[in-house]
Amino acid sequence: MKAEIGVIGLGVMGKSLSRNLAQKGFSLALFNRHLEGQEEHIARDFKQDFPELENSQAFDDLQSFVASLAAPKKIIVMIAAGAAIDDLLSQITPLLSAEDIVVDGGNSHFEDTQKRIELLEKRGIHFIGAGISGGEYGALHGPSIMPSGNAVAYSQIEKYLKAIAAKDSHGEPCCTYIGSQGSGHFVKMIHNGIEYVEMQLLAECYFILKQQGLSNPAIADVFESWRKDLDSYLLEISVDILRKQEGDIFVLDTILDQAGNKGTGKWSSIAIANSGTPATLIPAALLTRYLSFFKSYRTQLSKDFPRTDFSDQMAINELKDAYEFARVINHHQGFSILAQASNQYQWNLNLSAIARIWTQGCIIKSQFMIGLIEILKEEEDLLSHPQIQKTIRERHAATQSVVATSIRAAYHIPCLAEAVQFFHGITTADSSANFIQAQRDYFGAHTYLKKDDPSGKKYHTDW
Ligand code: 6PG
Repeated sequence: MKAEIGVIGLGVMGKSLSRNLAQKGFSLALFNRHLEGQEEHIARDFKQDFPELENSQAFDDLQSFVASLAAPKKIIVMIAAGAAIDDLLSQITPLLSAEDIVVDGGNSHFEDTQKRIELLEKRGIHFIGAGISGGEYGALHGPSIMPSGNAVAYSQIEKYLKAIAAKDSHGEPCCTYIGSQGSGHFVKMIHNGIEYVEMQLLAECYFILKQQGLSNPAIADVFESWRKDLDSYLLEISVDILRKQEGDIFVLDTILDQAGNKGTGKWSSIAIANSGTPATLIPAALLTRYLSFFKSYRTQLSKDFPRTDFSDQMAINELKDAYEFARVINHHQGFSILAQASNQYQWNLNLSAIARIWTQGCIIKSQFMIGLIEILKEEEDLLSHPQIQKTIRERHAATQSVVATSIRAAYHIPCLAEAVQFFHGITTADSSANFIQAQRDYFGAHTYLKKDDPSGKKYHTDW
């Protein structure tokens, strides 16, 4: 019996996804490479560990794995992004035929995905870049899936992806065809960028409350109370994190304050810079992770610049409003990048559909995201939507107060502060950019446009 679909790469995500597929009744071929002394009999041992894999076929020989698949062969690749994907493709393409389909379910860069699509299409093989969010739990119980590439090839693997995806509140799979080229991986990359900011905002709220003298369980109670109107997966796990103890010790208090990253936040920031979109929060969240890495330097400078005592109390209801305000700005910026990329690459992205598949299964799922499905149908520019405008208007003053108090107290709150700064910038009709233009013209004769001349004529002054 030939297998319906194959999975390559049995790391944490690959294993969970395979079990999910097997639980949905699909016949599987499983492959993991053989690396002497490091990765041996991975597929065979994995099959033995889980009863749902009883009818799966396990391989560590690529040729036999490919031969075990029914035509057209459908293979989901779950290995590390980067050179490992290209290595695998160079080994596997000679074994494949026209109309076979390879799906990359990792966090690949969207431009790499596009190159791979073009490379494989030359041989008639289809390559689908599918962003998958939800971590290990999501991969097993239902992730959010963002596939892109050849639409006809997608239609042939759609039933597998939809079967394993999380289901939204109407029971619809959190998987939709995103668009051509590497758009699925682009959308996943921006998902991660939004994720960086959502995480950073919670970290800043935690930090403020901690500086205000609240214990971890007290902060957990504050966050728990916010869940009533602002529930999200990240808020939910934050409550658990704050309450987790090993004996008398809070685990959180034992963790070194240096935040890691695997690159998607950096890619998002580069894409933002390349596109000219003023999406300021993702780079702020990324650079804050980088700043955290300078632990010994920070420690040294903290002694050189000791804080003066500061006793102003922060109103907790104001902090909640500031958190909500900043989240709205984060989502405004995230969806703006998607809209910009959709135009630039002619992907015709459906932002409302993207919000829908982000309501379950993924890391940034939230009550707010559910509301965005309808809002984005009416208005893709979130700050122009009346309901969003009302939320922002009602929380602006509280956000200013939280940011001002935090700055006076010398708290580092880059994303809360940048959210309100961005809002002030994007709502300022007459900005300071005329001054920049004057300076550019002064030292470099870069010329400037005049307010009262719409013709586009360039002016230069002999300063
Ligand atoms: C997801 C996550 C997932 C992963 C990122 C985290 O959507 O399931 O985003 O892709 O957790 O790799 O990225 P950093 O290691 O850069 O924080």
